[in-house]
Amino acid sequence: MITDIEVNKPEPIAIGKKLKSFKQGTAVKATIEALKRGESILIKEFYNDGISLLHDLHTYLKLKLPNKSFLEQQAYRTEYYRLSNLILLEIVDQKLCVKKSPGIGWLEKFYSENNHFFLTFPQIQGLNSAWQWYQNGISIPVLRNKMHPYYGTYFPTRFEHLVLFDNWLKRYKGPKKTAIEIGIGCGVLSLQMIQHHFQKVYATDINPNAIVGLIEFMGTTKLSRKIELDFGHLFGKWEKQTELIVFNPPWLPEVHDLSHIDAAIYYNKTLFADFFCCGKKKTVT
Ligand SMILES: C[S@@+](CC[C@H](N)C(=O)[O-])C[C@H]1O[C@@H](n2cnc3c(N)ncnc32)[C@H](O)[C@@H]1O
Repeated sequence: MITDIEVNKPEPIAIGKKLKSFKQGTAVKATIEALKRGESILIKEFYNDGISLLHDLHTYLKLKLPNKSFLEQQAYRTEYYRLSNLILLEIVDQKLCVKKSPGIGWLEKFYSENNHFFLTFPQIQGLNSAWQWYQNGISIPVLRNKMHPYYGTYFPTRFEHLVLFDNWLKRYKGPKKTAIEIGIGCGVLSLQMIQHHFQKVYATDINPNAIVGLIEFMGTTKLSRKIELDFGHLFGKWEKQTELIVFNPPWLPEVHDLSHIDAAIYYNKTLFADFFCCGKKKTVT
C-alpha cells in the first residue's frame, strides 16, 4: 500500500567546501582540537576509522571532564554528542563511500532522490543498528513471529508487561469485536490482541515511522484488514466505542522539547488528562 506520510529520518547534510579528514595515522589530538573548534571531520578511508575516532573522543573526554554526578554526566554526554556529530561520512548513490562499511538499506529507502550528501557518524551508526533489527527481526516471547521494527520506532526490550498482558488476554472472557490501541509503535500489543482473536484493532500513533513501518509490514495481508491505522494523536480519527482500549504510554515526564523517538518515552503535562477525557466516551460499558 502506498502512503504519503513522511517518515522521520536524519536530515541530509550538503557540504560544498573541502573537509579535513581522519584516517589511521592522522594526529588524534589535532583532530579533536578541530572538532572542538566546531570543524567537521570527514572519515574517508575505512568505516573503522570513525569507530576508532569515537573511541579516542571518549578517552579524551574522560580525561578532561568529570563524569560522576548527574549534572557532570549530562555535560559529558552533551559534549560527546556535539563533537561526535561533527564526524561525517559521505554518501554517493545511496552507499557509504568508505571501505568495509556496512550495507544500510535505509539509505536506499529514504534517500532515493539524493545521490550525494553527508550524514554524521552517530546517525549512520543509528541507521545501521536499526537496519540490523529490521532485517534480522527481533524475537518477542509472546509472539509467534519475529517483529521487524521500522527505523525510529519504539520496540520493547523487556517483556514482563507483555507476558502480563498475554495472561490477562488469556483470561479475558468479554466480547472481542473491536479494540483501540493508542501509540501502536512496532505493533506488539495489537498483534497480541489479534493472536487472542480480537476481530479488529483500530490503532494510532503520532510517530509517522510507526504508521509507515506497519503499513509496509502488513502490506495487503489478512493482518492489514484486522489492524487499521491512523497517524494521529491519542484516539485519532477513531470515534466509535470499542470493548477495549490499550495504551502502553510514554513513562517519563517531559524534560525538554520532544524529538521523535522521545515521544515513546516522555509524556507532556496534558497527555493523561486528555487520554482519560477522550477515553471515557469510547469504551462500551
Ligand atoms: C512506550 S511506546 C509503546 C509502543 C507499543 N505500543 C509497545 O507497547 O511496544 C509509546 C508509543 O506511544 C506513541 N505516542 C506517544 N504519545 C502519543 C499520543 N499522544 N498519541 C498517540 N501515540 C502516542 C509513541 O510514539 C510510541 O510509539
